[in-house]
Amino acid sequence: MVAAIDLSGLQTVRVECAHGAQAVLTTHGAHLVSWMPAGANEQLFLSDRSALRRDAPIRGGVPVVFPQFASYGPLAHHGLVRTREWRLVDGADAPSSTCARLRIESDADTHALWPHEFACELTVSLGERTLRIELRVENRDAAPFEFRAALHTYLRVDDIGAVRIEGLAGIAYLDRARDDARAIDDDHVLRVRGELDRVYVGAPRRLLLCKPDGDVELAAEGFPDVVVWNPGRDKCEHMADMAPDGYRNMVCIEPAAVAAPIVLAPAAAWTGAQTLAVRA
Ligand code: BG6
Repeated sequence: MVAAIDLSGLQTVRVECAHGAQAVLTTHGAHLVSWMPAGANEQLFLSDRSALRRDAPIRGGVPVVFPQFASYGPLAHHGLVRTREWRLVDGADAPSSTCARLRIESDADTHALWPHEFACELTVSLGERTLRIELRVENRDAAPFEFRAALHTYLRVDDIGAVRIEGLAGIAYLDRARDDARAIDDDHVLRVRGELDRVYVGAPRRLLLCKPDGDVELAAEGFPDVVVWNPGRDKCEHMADMAPDGYRNMVCIEPAAVAAPIVLAPAAAWTGAQTLAVRA
């Protein structure tokens, strides 16, 4: 629950719908920190040890990864925009808005780190039991640029040992926990037993997170890959922004463009999205 965490240092944006569903974002990073569908519990994990400062990434929710994924490049881990302030450009200024759009544009600071003129927009649309998150990237430069991106979704689970992910059987992945070795998992379902850090290349559009308190369906558009991540017990114990057993309550399933960068022509835009839906 977001209520247990003091977000007062950060500006928040709340969207809600008539049937009681609600979601909360921070303008810091355009970071979705809470999603409560109508009649359901909180669906996103947010670490109670997360830094909630303007100069640090938030641990949990849905970080926006752009223009670099992880350390696949010279920039800070996961890129430039998750630790920057975005601007609310649409929605959510009315108390009953079901949609919010935030925008960030390149400036002198980003230019010094990544010499391209860009804009990103994140649009969150809330339904009774669905949430759609759309990332749009614009090339405002005179030359093409390449980027990687992800919606780094932390899903909350009561017990990681009791969940499974369906839809990835037979899909090749890069095993980031083993020097990006290529592998294929033929198991019908994926279970998280220890550290898991995989980039599934050319992943199916629909995946299912099955958990005892209700399944979540994830549908991606535009993102060719999906990253599945859980730090496991040993890594988690050494993470300053996670409780030692925090790994038990989360799994990241991230629609992503990682295996091959996206090339964007001048004046062109790229859009990727995911829709999360809770099943009864
Ligand atoms: C995942 C990566 O997407 O993000 C992992 O695959 C990484 O390798 C994880 O550890 C968390 O990254 P960060 O920068 O938020 O600690």
